[in-house]
Amino acid sequence: MVLQPPSQSAAETHDPAFFSELNSAEIVNARIDRAVADTRFGQVIAAMTRHLHAFISEVEPTNEEWLAAIQFLTEVGHTCTEWRQEFILLSDILGVSMLVDAINSRRPSGATENTILGPFYVANAPHRANGDTICLDDKGEPLVVRGQVTDTNGTPIANAVVDVWQTNDDGFYDVQQPGIQPAMNMRGVFRTDAAGRYWFRSVRPRYYQIPSDGPVGQLLEKLGRHPNRAAHIHAVVSADEYDAVVTHIFEPNCQYLREDAVFGLKSSLIGDFKRTEDEQAAAALGFTGSPFFWEVTADFVLAPSTGRKAFVHQV
Ligand code: BEZ
Ligand code: FE
Repeated sequence: MVLQPPSQSAAETHDPAFFSELNSAEIVNARIDRAVADTRFGQVIAAMTRHLHAFISEVEPTNEEWLAAIQFLTEVGHTCTEWRQEFILLSDILGVSMLVDAINSRRPSGATENTILGPFYVANAPHRANGDTICLDDKGEPLVVRGQVTDTNGTPIANAVVDVWQTNDDGFYDVQQPGIQPAMNMRGVFRTDAAGRYWFRSVRPRYYQIPSDGPVGQLLEKLGRHPNRAAHIHAVVSADEYDAVVTHIFEPNCQYLREDAVFGLKSSLIGDFKRTEDEQAAAALGFTGSPFFWEVTADFVLAPSTGRKAFVHQV
């Protein structure tokens, strides 16, 4: 037996007082106050309603499925704390964070591309001198990062801020392991010199898992997806009169490079990591006792300011 929606008279179908499966979104949107309907807010809510109704019409969830969806979102909310934003994590693994970022960081060609900020940015990381290390726990394979900050014409930008952070060699950010890692481990704020150059020491980044002990992690598992982020170093690069860039330096040999859990990879952001076997050269760089070290050059190109905010703090 094929079930049909209850028939409505033509008058009922076109009367917004009556709900109709056929034009449900229009009926809901017709209730928005006329003055509000013309505003950005009214238009956004109307579009959301249209897409949500189209989704439900396509999927035709059972009552149990709809309840499960509501329970999932409730759990996502309950998992949020002062330190954890599970809704942003959900947006990250669905690629929505990257889409919003792409829309909001269109730049002239040649400018460094943006990628995801992630939840582990800390606004007050310590300022360090060029050449300092950000690794305070002595774990991992030594790495030197060098680069130049320029504008899109290639003119060096002196005094630009290069704010970097990464996980330690166990795959955790310092803020995930208070009392285990030294505070501000693997973080530092550097300033470019008169030639726009900066450099710092660190360790080769490794892949790590995004927080996966909550509902988003369960969703990934149900989808047969892994929670690993491709190995990267975060950088926010800024200078007066330029748009700040929120970006990464990806490690090219990472096994998860092409399947980053939050879709952050862009080809222009893959670093050219080079390994040098030379104990003396390692010692000269301050990596005493290491028979080798890694090097990567990461240049950043800033575009003139559009007045747009670089990023919104995540929590
Ligand atoms: C990160 O790169 O730090 C990150 C990005 C998205 C979700 C979780 C972590
Ligand atoms: Fe990260």
